[in-house]
Amino acid sequence: MAVSDEFLQELRARINIESVVSPYVNLKKHGSVLTGLCPFHNEKTPSFTVYPESSSFYCFGCGVGGDVITFVRRIENLDYVEALKSLAQRIGMQMPEDGYDDTLMKRRLRILSANRAAAKFFHEALFAAESKPALDYLLNRGLTIATIKHFGLGFAPDSWSKLCSKLREDGFSFQELVEANLVSRSKKNNNESYYDRFRKRIMVPIIDLRGNVVAFGGRVLDDSKPKYINTSDTLVYKKGRDIFALNFAKNGNEGSLILTEGYMDTIALHQAGFKNAVAGLGTALTREQAQLLSRYAKEVIICYDNDEAGREATAKALNVLGQTDLKLRVLQLRGGKDPDDIIKKHGRERFKNLLDGAANDIEFKILEERQKHDLNTPNGKLDFLKAAANILAELDGAIERDIYASKLSEELSVGKDSIMQQVMENRKKLLNYKRKSRLKGLERKSLGISDKLNPEFGRNVRAVKAEETLISSLMNNPDFYGKICDKISADDFITETNRHIFKVITFRLAENKDIDTNLLSSELNNDEMSKVIRFRLRSNELINTLRECEDCIKVIIEEKNKQKDLNPASLSDEEFLDLFKQKNT
Ligand code: GTP
Ligand code: MN
Repeated sequence: MAVSDEFLQELRARINIESVVSPYVNLKKHGSVLTGLCPFHNEKTPSFTVYPESSSFYCFGCGVGGDVITFVRRIENLDYVEALKSLAQRIGMQMPEDGYDDTLMKRRLRILSANRAAAKFFHEALFAAESKPALDYLLNRGLTIATIKHFGLGFAPDSWSKLCSKLREDGFSFQELVEANLVSRSKKNNNESYYDRFRKRIMVPIIDLRGNVVAFGGRVLDDSKPKYINTSDTLVYKKGRDIFALNFAKNGNEGSLILTEGYMDTIALHQAGFKNAVAGLGTALTREQAQLLSRYAKEVIICYDNDEAGREATAKALNVLGQTDLKLRVLQLRGGKDPDDIIKKHGRERFKNLLDGAANDIEFKILEERQKHDLNTPNGKLDFLKAAANILAELDGAIERDIYASKLSEELSVGKDSIMQQVMENRKKLLNYKRKSRLKGLERKSLGISDKLNPEFGRNVRAVKAEETLISSLMNNPDFYGKICDKISADDFITETNRHIFKVITFRLAENKDIDTNLLSSELNNDEMSKVIRFRLRSNELINTLRECEDCIKVIIEEKNKQKDLNPASLSDEEFLDLFKQKNT
């Protein structure tokens, strides 16, 4: 991607980062910077900082940062050129005709319009006379025509070519249809042929927050396997990124979201008036999805299927969601196998009652443990109590701990005091453990390093520290370039991400180009940009001499040589702290 530096510099001069950020973040002025609540993670006190002077931003809470283009890229989920284009448009700058490569964006737009055309085709096909069995299937499942239309449900006819022919007529190439994952290619006897990927299936379009059809789920009409065929990852869709029906649910403004496992569950809930229902997309809930949910709600009520798989998935989802600030509850589906089933069998009132009575996460975990043990035997009872005491130890409120301990004591006829004693013992251990890991986290922070942005950090603490100091130093003192590059090249770097950043910077310096943050974002991804901003911010912690750089180079080369017979075990806490002490001496 080659946009000229002049273009980027003009863009930077004319665009005001504050006005780009402020629709998403309530910014307050603090001296020469602005701060607010970070839109990229959940927080209660503002650590998101905007630097108008350098036209950049950085969050001291989650470590995300970058220039104004990176901000748009992250918040709107766009690629570099799309973000650049939208910014240029804002201030009426003409994108240079030949100055950038927009093929990727064009391909994405083609996929989105092919998807839209396909969604329309499927939807119309559902109402054709020969599709009666498909429409009947949906109606028999209790869906109304209004719901079918609201979700844009459709039917892929029992044909190998109908969709493909229609979209070919509309002007899409085979290549585009394959890229959209609507059509598959087969090669037999050197003969290329193309065929519809979805056949004889109910089609559920998956729509992103901007109203684009990004993918489809296709369900069989009977019990045959596989039940669903879904769009694989394409240029516009990644399975672990989107949430089904969030485009509708986000407007509900309920403050809470009901998270189900299946498309059909979510659709049934919406029809029954629960407009805040959403679904994952057939994979275990990812951190990305958890973050997304936390951006649109304060509370998530997990409502997975009432079976073994559903319970396992619930435990996993609790884990992932537990890393956000979301309040969590778990709805236990008594009297039905999934939300759809409950509503069909017992009506919406019953579901509403279940919803109101949904256990919080602690209650859920205790319920889970209870089912694992036979409470009629002394051993079963003991094991259950131990596990429960472990769970209660996580509660921060003394009153809460007391209430649950009372309940357990009554239920199992065991003295409350002995339960509390066990709880408090566990709690002591837990707090100790937490303090230790917090300490470790602090050490990492003060080194300016975070695990998230450099997955290789844990194994290479010393090297990473040296790499980052060297890069920061070079960024502050571009005139060191000649001296540094005599002694080290990007290939000597141990970790992938720092190697790439170093490469991009030295490449520009070799051509006598500026290394302004704003000029780097076309070549670095979002996480790399976060690091670059942090390197800049760190600059005043550095000694900023060539000597310091040479020390770093020595460490990197040493570590590189060591790598050959490196002990794979990661550093212990003590070793880690030792390292940190060395730094200050
Ligand atoms: P019904 O059984 O019709 O109520 O559908 P459902 O949408 O509730 O599906 P189910 O509870 O069986 O599965 C939950 C989700 O997992 C579905 O919505 C799909 O996203 C995904 N899924 C289910 N079966 C398959 C499959 O065979 N292949 C793939 N790739 N995904 C599946
Ligand atoms: Mn289901």
